[in-house]
Amino acid sequence: MAIRTIREEGDEILKKKSREVEVVDDKIRELIKDMIETMHKYDGVGLAAVQVGILKRILVIDLYDEKPIVRLINPVIIKTKGEQEVEEGCLSFPNKYAKVIRPKEITVEGLNEYGQKIRIVATDLLAQALSHEIDHLDGKVFIDKMIPGTLEVVTPTDKKK
Ligand code: NI
Repeated sequence: MAIRTIREEGDEILKKKSREVEVVDDKIRELIKDMIETMHKYDGVGLAAVQVGILKRILVIDLYDEKPIVRLINPVIIKTKGEQEVEEGCLSFPNKYAKVIRPKEITVEGLNEYGQKIRIVATDLLAQALSHEIDHLDGKVFIDKMIPGTLEVVTPTDKKK
């Protein structure tokens, strides 16, 4: 496993659309492991492959200690329901936070790290995280959809966890 370099604001790759994974093989599983390690190293709760410079439709999310880490390949949003106004940040935008509107509920289909089809029905925080990470795969970042006037830039000394 290896820590990968996180691409940050200003890097044009963050605006690019990621491509579908055609074969889920050991190379993909290795990338997913690295993404998880990188996410944990930087105290993130989610990461898309584009954020480590790989334009493949892969995301990982780790919100709760007691739940398994979400590893999702080629995710497709099947359904959304409702809205929630939430504050969020992103490992590619260090020290920046803003409010955005995310779906309250979301149903997503994709593949797991073994290439098996899976479906995730999520609400609240997980719905927010899935929406945020899937946006990355389409070259969209939260700063582009923030509610005007809600951007907060914190200095590293009073950084939020
Ligand atoms: Ni992000």
